[in-house]
Amino acid sequence: MKRNNSLRRRVGWWLLPPLVVLLSINAYLSYRAALEVVNRAYDRSLTASISAIGERTHSQNGNISVDIPYAAFEFFQSGAHERIFYRVTDPSGRSITGYPDLPVPTALPDDGRVAIIDAVYHGDAVRVAALRKRLYDPALGAQDSVLIAFAETLDSRTALAREMLFDSLRRELLLVGLGVVLLLLALSSAFRPLLSLRDRVRERSEEDLTPVPQQDVPSEVRPLIDAINHHVDRISAMLQARKRFLADAAHQIRTPLAVLGTQAEYGLRQDDPAEMRRTFAGLIHSIGSAQRLANQMLALSHAEAINGLILERDAVDLEALVRDVALELSPLAVRKGVDLGFETSGAAATVDGNASMLHEMVSNLIDNAIRYTPADGHVTAQISRENCGAGEEVLIRVRDDGPGIAPAERERVFQRFYRILGQGDSEGSGLGLPIVREICSAHGGRIALRDGPQGKGLEVEVHLPARSQAEDLAPTR
Ligand SMILES: Nc1ncnc2c1ncn2[C@@H]1O[C@H](COP(=O)(O)OP(=O)(O)O)[C@@H](O)[C@H]1O
Ligand SMILES: [Mg+2]
Repeated sequence: MKRNNSLRRRVGWWLLPPLVVLLSINAYLSYRAALEVVNRAYDRSLTASISAIGERTHSQNGNISVDIPYAAFEFFQSGAHERIFYRVTDPSGRSITGYPDLPVPTALPDDGRVAIIDAVYHGDAVRVAALRKRLYDPALGAQDSVLIAFAETLDSRTALAREMLFDSLRRELLLVGLGVVLLLLALSSAFRPLLSLRDRVRERSEEDLTPVPQQDVPSEVRPLIDAINHHVDRISAMLQARKRFLADAAHQIRTPLAVLGTQAEYGLRQDDPAEMRRTFAGLIHSIGSAQRLANQMLALSHAEAINGLILERDAVDLEALVRDVALELSPLAVRKGVDLGFETSGAAATVDGNASMLHEMVSNLIDNAIRYTPADGHVTAQISRENCGAGEEVLIRVRDDGPGIAPAERERVFQRFYRILGQGDSEGSGLGLPIVREICSAHGGRIALRDGPQGKGLEVEVHLPARSQAEDLAPTR
């Protein structure tokens, strides 16, 4: 089914069908009311006719005489199509004159009042007025009253009521029509600011990421504009970061390329094969670090791109992950003569996240610790779980007893390509810690640098929100 997304159409659907129903109900009630009014007016003639007949009905010595006056019919002259029926019955129920089978009201008052009913006579709907008139003729004994009934068909009544109904319907339809026109005008005037907003947004240049102005926008739409502006802000920040990154990266890649060029030229000028071989070794080493740089840049750009919107999230067991990374990097530690250890508190250390990115993060931390710690140093990767008030957290601590990072530098090492010079390893790119921070914040975590135990070395502490126990129990993909 197609979703109905036009506001105009939605307003129409909400208004028109109920309006039609209301109009129908109103038409029915109007017709009933009109019929009542018409009946009241016509019944007066009926009553007058029957009274006129009553006045001309007498009895003498038991002989009842009825004289139907012309006046009785006169009232109906206007409704020339109307048919008239009457009936006069003597006390014993015998018909004296008129139509003996004309239906009459069953319970008639004895006090000379006229009773009126609706009835059907020979297939015609009729209105019957009836009256019981006492004749005061001693010869008739106790039963001295005659029944006089007078009836007419309803054609002119219904015609009049219908005319009144159509009259009021015409007026109503006119009003509804006017209302619809006004509604359409109101809707189009309500939408005009939106259309002009659309035009203004359309006319913007491609590079224009400034917020859409809020003035002249209906207050109902302002939250939407707010949300869009917020979104554009984020995109704009992302684009800025991209641009900066690209500029930084281009700048950074120039240095290793220059080094490579110089080394190659130097090698070309050598005649001594031994010297040439040494140059080649240096060349390979330089290519290695250029490769590392390229990989790191790729990792960082990947981490930045998905920051805030990691699509593939899974339950990741950090204990196993940290253990794996430590194992992978142990050859590096062995080569450097650094003692690499792993400690765990044994608590569940599952987080919701992207395993390969978390692997990249932990790998960078342990790699740094090994690289910047001199031979005979110690590196420990530790995993534990804590409750930090806001909820359960999994903590990764990587600790070493190397040179550490001076407090003044602890913020700066998170900047791209920032390296503390003169510190052992020359292969770095300065992108490791920015990658760590990006991945950490993409997982809703935070990171802290502090002195190692006994004030020596560095301790990096990463807090990540733990996956709740309930989620842990639920089967994961
Ligand atoms: N465990 C550590 N001990 C001492 N210094 C460190 C440590 N980790 C990082 N640093 C310093 O922070 C700088 C930035 O680290 P990083 O972003 O990983 O880049 P890279 O390792 O490529 O130089 C490093 O150059 C180094 O000087
Ligand atoms: Mg590093």
